[in-house]
Amino acid sequence: MGKNALTVIDNRTGKSYEIPVFQGTYPTYGAAIRASDLRQIKTSEDDFGLMSYDPAFMNTASCQSGITFVDGEKGILRYRGYPIEELAEKSTYLETAYLILYGELPTKVRFKEWVQNITFHTIIHENIKKFMDGFHYDAHPMGMLVSTVAALSTFYADGKNIFDPESQKKQTYRLIGKMPTLAAFAYRHSRGLPYAYPDNDLSYTGNFLGMLFKMTEMKYRPNPILERALDVLFILHADHEQNCGTNAMRSVGSSHVDSYSAVAAAAAALYGPLHGGANEEVLRMLKEIGSKDSVPGFIKKVKAGEGRLMGFGHRVYKNYDPRAKIIKHVADQVFEVTGRNPLLDIALEVERIALEDEYFIKRKLYPNVDFYSGIIYQAMGFPDMMFPVLFAIPRTSGWVAQWLEMLSDAEQKIARPRQLYSGSEERHYVTMKERKAA
Ligand code: CMC
Repeated sequence: MGKNALTVIDNRTGKSYEIPVFQGTYPTYGAAIRASDLRQIKTSEDDFGLMSYDPAFMNTASCQSGITFVDGEKGILRYRGYPIEELAEKSTYLETAYLILYGELPTKVRFKEWVQNITFHTIIHENIKKFMDGFHYDAHPMGMLVSTVAALSTFYADGKNIFDPESQKKQTYRLIGKMPTLAAFAYRHSRGLPYAYPDNDLSYTGNFLGMLFKMTEMKYRPNPILERALDVLFILHADHEQNCGTNAMRSVGSSHVDSYSAVAAAAAALYGPLHGGANEEVLRMLKEIGSKDSVPGFIKKVKAGEGRLMGFGHRVYKNYDPRAKIIKHVADQVFEVTGRNPLLDIALEVERIALEDEYFIKRKLYPNVDFYSGIIYQAMGFPDMMFPVLFAIPRTSGWVAQWLEMLSDAEQKIARPRQLYSGSEERHYVTMKERKAA
């Protein structure tokens, strides 16, 4: 088999095996063996064969993907090969979403069509408003978003034709177009405000800001700096390869359910405080710290195992998250318009102390994307509960791209992990009368 193989000797049997190694396209990153090649390693004919055991996918590649590249050691993030820094500076969210979905930057004509198609799908069925009305006044907007995006599947039965290219296109437009509307309606509901309908003259983020914050004015005009800042934040959140939410999208989508149901599952995964709910937790944490002087005491508690420093650490980045660097820059622009968020000083102090502290250095814990995003969102007028929603909207393009890639991948099947059984041996049913009293 030559060089591109592993020779494995099973000390239990003395047998030797050659296991092929295959390489991802990036030469220094990502070689793997197929876990199923381990199954030939057996101690006897009736042995099930060796499996790999990897709770939480610490070292398991679940797919081959050409969408997003992350090098966590070096702090690199690229969509379809383009560095995140260049896209954040030069692109727009909708152009980036096109790139993520279709693999190339659009031509002028394609881009115009794309924007038009998304814009024409921003309106939601009037019945959706009835769901919204049914939620309690203090319902979390992320709970409302998860539920209403799932409900879209009941309006678009053609979404079940998941392999039909026309249906795929339509559901993509609908999902990307309608997520901001659902999110804004959830916000208006929680505020007791009338729903504001989409304004197709505005940009994707301008329209979203309008649906959120429009009051009695005839025409909402977004502040261009805040509109652009939100657009950059959307670019940064558009995709991030195989994280918890994306894995949920692929895993649930692998059962061939419609894309609305799969997006609802992905959004539910994102809702958790260890994932997209982290930026909400960061604000809670900064408020709890309260002042710069209290930072050392708080860090001491974290080191003693009393809670985590939210917005710090990442499964993949063992270096400064490149998105966090860009967000810090965006923060300066936003604060010029909104005034400085006093929580920023606490956050900067947390970062300064943590980055000099042995505990965080040893574990390679750096600020992640969520550390500064909440501070910006708060300054822009978003309540904390909207933060995970602001993550879910742009991530929809990434989820859909990953779902489409999965559907076209001949190697993919319904996701079905194995387990190592750790329960009882076979035993026999005991009637209630015969059971011991507790
Ligand atoms: N504060 C304090 N200690 C931490 C933190 C933190 N934020 N993150 C990790 N550690 C410690 C952890 O206690 C462990 O220490 P030890 O080796 O002594 O047991 C070590 O670092 C490794 O942690 P882990 O839990 O094994 O790492 P993981 O890869 O499973 O977790 C993480 C990654 C993002 C869930 C975790 O770093 C964390 O909980 N961070 C805070 C929540 C957060 O900011 N999440 C947003 C992530 S970025 C956006 C997204 O993906 O949605």
